[in-house]
Amino acid sequence: MSAADEAIAGAEVAIERLRAARRVAVLTGAGISAESGIPTFRDALTGLWARYRAEDLATPEAFARDPRLVWSWYRMRRAMVSSAAPNPGHAALARLEALVPHLTLITQNVDGLQQRAGSSRVLELHGNILRARCSREGAVVDAWEEPDDGEVPHCVDCDSLLRPDVVWFGEALPAAALEEAWAAATTCDVFLSVGTSNLVEPAASLPWVAAREGASVMVINPTAAGQRTGDGIHQLVGTAGEILPRLVSRLDRI
Ligand code: OAD
Repeated sequence: MSAADEAIAGAEVAIERLRAARRVAVLTGAGISAESGIPTFRDALTGLWARYRAEDLATPEAFARDPRLVWSWYRMRRAMVSSAAPNPGHAALARLEALVPHLTLITQNVDGLQQRAGSSRVLELHGNILRARCSREGAVVDAWEEPDDGEVPHCVDCDSLLRPDVVWFGEALPAAALEEAWAAATTCDVFLSVGTSNLVEPAASLPWVAAREGASVMVINPTAAGQRTGDGIHQLVGTAGEILPRLVSRLDRI
């Protein structure tokens, strides 16, 4: 029996709760995209970016100081994400949408892979790098001309610099998405926490708020280190690409 099969076999109680659940909430982090080749935040940056930390580039101050540097980091990440493909973990969550009456899928990721896997509705708490927005007026754009000389493109309406449509460190999360995520966490029967280190608030609190409200929480992560334990919290140690397809196949009533 593989480690993933063992993890599933040890979670029978939680799986029964998931099978009977009417309201399910899912929170995903960078770990679910790791098997698509997208480095996680806690992975050190590599290559040209090895001397930087994500925390030093993903800030309003870094963009104000050197917009060209920050924009080129996001341009590299957009190219990486665009050439990546959703993996079986993303696909399993897209399938879950058809298997539970009410699913709220919340992501901290900015890569858009869950939508590309077929999920019809994803709450993006930290935005999406495939969109940009005017750094002055906030108007969001899905497409823009990338200047050949590596310069940062400008807003066509007011000529201000465009910036990635993501939440930077120190910025507020989109209020509507956060409010809906919080409501889902406090009313769900089962909460799946997938591929997150649970270090960055307010997303980090969502699973524990759900547990406090009586939901069964299933934490899917190759390492149990740093994850909370306690009543109603079930660790399924393994990767998203191994655990989620097995978990969802146990529900596939259709
Ligand atoms: P992290 O890089 O902090 O954590 C990734 C988690 O995924 C870790 O707990 C890994 O153990 C786990 N992991 C790695 N490979 C996995 C796999 N194949 N399957 C499942 N899990 C795996 O990423 P996040 O928790 O998403 O915020 O980080 C949260 C936020 O911190 C990000 O959204 C970003 C960052 O600062 C902003 O940019 C505002």
